[in-house]
Amino acid sequence: MKTIVITGGTDGIGRGLARTFLRRGERVIVIGRDAAKAPEGAEFIAADLSLVAENRRVLASLVSRTEQVDVLVFCARHYRSARAETAEGIEENFGLFYLSRYILGHGLAPLLEKAPAPVVMSVAGPGTPIGGVRWDDLQFTRGYHAGKAMTQSGKLADLLGVDFAPAHPGTRVRYVLHHPGVTVTGHSGTYSEADAAFVAEMRKRGKTVGEAIVPILRRIDDPPAEALSAWVHHERMAVDDEDFAPEAAVRLRGLTEGVLAGG
Ligand SMILES: NC(=O)c1ccc[n+]([C@@H]2O[C@H](COP(=O)([O-])OP(=O)(O)OC[C@H]3O[C@@H](n4cnc5c(N)ncnc54)[C@H](OP(=O)(O)O)[C@@H]3O)[C@@H](O)[C@H]2O)c1
Repeated sequence: MKTIVITGGTDGIGRGLARTFLRRGERVIVIGRDAAKAPEGAEFIAADLSLVAENRRVLASLVSRTEQVDVLVFCARHYRSARAETAEGIEENFGLFYLSRYILGHGLAPLLEKAPAPVVMSVAGPGTPIGGVRWDDLQFTRGYHAGKAMTQSGKLADLLGVDFAPAHPGTRVRYVLHHPGVTVTGHSGTYSEADAAFVAEMRKRGKTVGEAIVPILRRIDDPPAEALSAWVHHERMAVDDEDFAPEAAVRLRGLTEGVLAGG
């Protein structure tokens, strides 16, 4: 039986994956805010993953409850039309969409290495240009724009994938960056009227969660040979251009360690 950890497994794509793995008889650990939304049969860890301290607590909880993680799926996200900071003073997208993936991905690496075919499945939006990263203001303290902040977090999540193998030499983990395309999900968010109307329109042309998870399951069941790969639904994307530059990933790692150290 595989052990599968899913952030954001209480809704949308994460929930769809959780339910599929539970039907297959796998052990599924879901991390989310609302126990009532946890899929039946899943173990649930309640946490607000936009908080660094909560990610560290979740990591400790996972280490104490399982010796091995076969698959780690990142699906948690929350759209904020207006900029918000967590109680720790961190911009929320940056905390939830990026720092959480950083802490849990690196932190669970030793448990992933114990699995026969470990996969980190980062569901986001790979392929956006690296030029959108505000290196001097990663948390959008100036001129916040919700779409840009979320797109940037997706780019930072890409760079996490780029940096995983160099940070864990000899790793057997397959880090998969996956863009599902527009999908009708919970669209977790705190929306302005205009953004809510935009999402309502988008939902009319989105694919179903059932359609969206097909290629994700394929990558998990039959992991790519390469340490890093990126996909848009079924299509593979190159990861050797400047948008996936190793130097950018190393730069980001340095900045992130500064934030986590309280700098
Ligand atoms: N849907 C799309 O069209 C689309 C397109 C491109 C990329 N993606 C990517 O696909 C992934 C999954 O998206 P989705 O649309 O399936 O998501 P979703 O339905 O909006 O669900 C988001 C999940 O994140 C959880 N979450 C939100 N804030 C949290 C917090 N502070 N702490 C812990 N958990 C929190 C939610 O929990 P609650 O149940 O408590 O809200 C929910 O389980 C995301 O990374 C997204 O960027 C989606």
